Amino acid sequence: MARSAILNVMVQAAMKAGRSLSRDFGEVQNLQVSMKGPGDYVSQADRKAEEIIHAELAKGRPGYAFLMEERGVVAGEDDQHRWIVDPLDGTTNFLHGIPIFSISIALERQGQIVAGVIYNPAMDELYTAERGGGAFMNDRRLRVAGRTKLTDCVIGTGVPHLGRGHHGNYLVELRNVMGEVSGIRRLGSAALDLAYVAAGRMDGFWEESLSPWDVAAGILMVREAGGFVSDKNGGNDMFDTGAIVAGNETIHRALLKTLKKPVTAR
Ligand code: IPD
Ligand code: CA
Ligand code: CA
Ligand code: CA
Repeated sequence: MARSAILNVMVQAAMKAGRSLSRDFGEVQNLQVSMKGPGDYVSQADRKAEEIIHAELAKGRPGYAFLMEERGVVAGEDDQHRWIVDPLDGTTNFLHGIPIFSISIALERQGQIVAGVIYNPAMDELYTAERGGGAFMNDRRLRVAGRTKLTDCVIGTGVPHLGRGHHGNYLVELRNVMGEVSGIRRLGSAALDLAYVAAGRMDGFWEESLSPWDVAAGILMVREAGGFVSDKNGGNDMFDTGAIVAGNETIHRALLKTLKKPVTAR
């Protein structure tokens, strides 16, 4: 599979940051860790990976703007392009020695996501997508799963961490989805959740209170694998609402419906 020059820049940045994360994962007990809020960890590893990605992308395409989880907004002279970067998605897993974490890099052109890379260095799984060009994992073309009955489906979600709001509403949603699906998974990296939907490993995914860097690359990944992604109202406002629902066309629609249900009596 021939990658475009811009996707190559993104892949190189993700792989280089991945090597840094792998080294730090090997001696996680020595890392400096701080809390941004209750249950919300950040470490030296997150910051180091972000610096690497920032330097690589700025070298590859000087002048593009950035939105990064740790550094925030970095303005650029080019107002048509913006990188959206999560240098370590799944910090909690990482700091507990659980090898489910990823790097997520997306490129927005005139407000539209045109390229995305998600890399899990611990499993050496590289997910790439370009608008109109399909989605791939380590060069294998991806396609969302074809199941059409919720009762056959494994659905991913994200459980709010300590300090996050919306617990009450989330528990209602969780209970309703649990009552209709075959199984639920909580991987701990929203970017990988979406990559797994693209790869057909999970049939669907929903979460709320996410940030653009958690989902930007994953949204493109799912769509380029033939899937559907929306906010909880079926719209395209995932960045502003923080809510996301994904799956194939049928499962996406079914999930939207289930998530709207009031509490069901048991
Ligand atoms: C987190 C992960 C997790 C999701 C959280 C995110 P971080 O990102 O994506 O799966 O449930 O809401 O904040 O902080 O590890 O980059
Ligand atoms: Ca974080
Ligand atoms: Ca994240
Ligand atoms: Ca992060």
